[in-house]
Amino acid sequence: MVQARATGSDEPLFAHPSEREFARILDFYRIAWRYEPYSFVLREHDGQVAEMFTPDFYLPDLDLYVELTTLRQRLVTRKNRKLRRLQERYPEVNIRLLYKRDYYELLAKYGYHRGEVEPPQFAELLRDADRILFSNREIHQTVQRLADELTRDYAGRNPLLIGVLKGVTFFLSDLVRLMPIDLELDFMAVSELDDRGVGLVRIVKDLEHDIRGRHVVLVEDIVDTGLTLRYILGHLEQHGPASLEVCALFDKRPRRLVDSSLRYIGFALGDEFLVGYGLDFRGRYRNLPFVTALKPESYRADIVADHSAASGAAVEEYNLR
Ligand code: IMP
Repeated sequence: MVQARATGSDEPLFAHPSEREFARILDFYRIAWRYEPYSFVLREHDGQVAEMFTPDFYLPDLDLYVELTTLRQRLVTRKNRKLRRLQERYPEVNIRLLYKRDYYELLAKYGYHRGEVEPPQFAELLRDADRILFSNREIHQTVQRLADELTRDYAGRNPLLIGVLKGVTFFLSDLVRLMPIDLELDFMAVSELDDRGVGLVRIVKDLEHDIRGRHVVLVEDIVDTGLTLRYILGHLEQHGPASLEVCALFDKRPRRLVDSSLRYIGFALGDEFLVGYGLDFRGRYRNLPFVTALKPESYRADIVADHSAASGAAVEEYNLR
């Protein structure tokens, strides 16, 4: 009997390669699993156990046992018989028999779209992805929660929601479509450091609305050091809004250098570098419908290569931001 957590655990001795593959898929989706954690008695004879059944996996979050099958019919028939017995004897136990092709169906049932599991159109982009951190479904649920909170707090106040381009457009457009109240939108853009890490922050696209006396919500995709946010809030405050609050989908609080209060937060994070759902690395990956962490070596290698090419200096490893 082997127990294992989803990620970061020692790998159990799998009886079959398909089990390892299934475990890898579960890890990718952060679904916790245990390998062969429990044996069920199916039949007794003269007080002795005559037949047992040990399902391959238990997924505690889904309260589901999973038995994988090889494609040989003889084995499948035997397993089916065991499963029937198990269900007669333990009707409360939730178990599924899966062929390899069924993995994807199972995951789809729990909200992971096939396009997310094995996305041919994103295969190239996903080569640098470490694992999916937030599925499309999780993102949608969180955006719905934020939309409900904003709707409750701003009904009747005709708020002006301001997005900071470009990454936020994905989040902002989903958010406002879940807010059935009067509101208006505006956008700003600030300059970024250039490839050599040089530049001065400035507003490259300013608001079209006059915000004096308005209830303003600054909507951000991600707040990291907080430096960008501080600069933008300073700019907005000069124009006398009636109120000014921040709504951020991702909050990397441990990396904060300057603090500003975020009234509405989607996900609180550590210091991973995320891409997808509008977030980019050098302009790429914005179009992923979910959020993944990039493998550190993929962006570090890229930066180190650029750095040494640009400066001709000794290659030195440094963090992205
Ligand atoms: P800050 O000024 O350090 O808070 O950085 C904010 C900006 O950095 C965001 O608006 C993003 O454009 C970018 N950023 C910070 N962390 C990430 C990340 O994990 N993925 C992609 N972009 C990020």
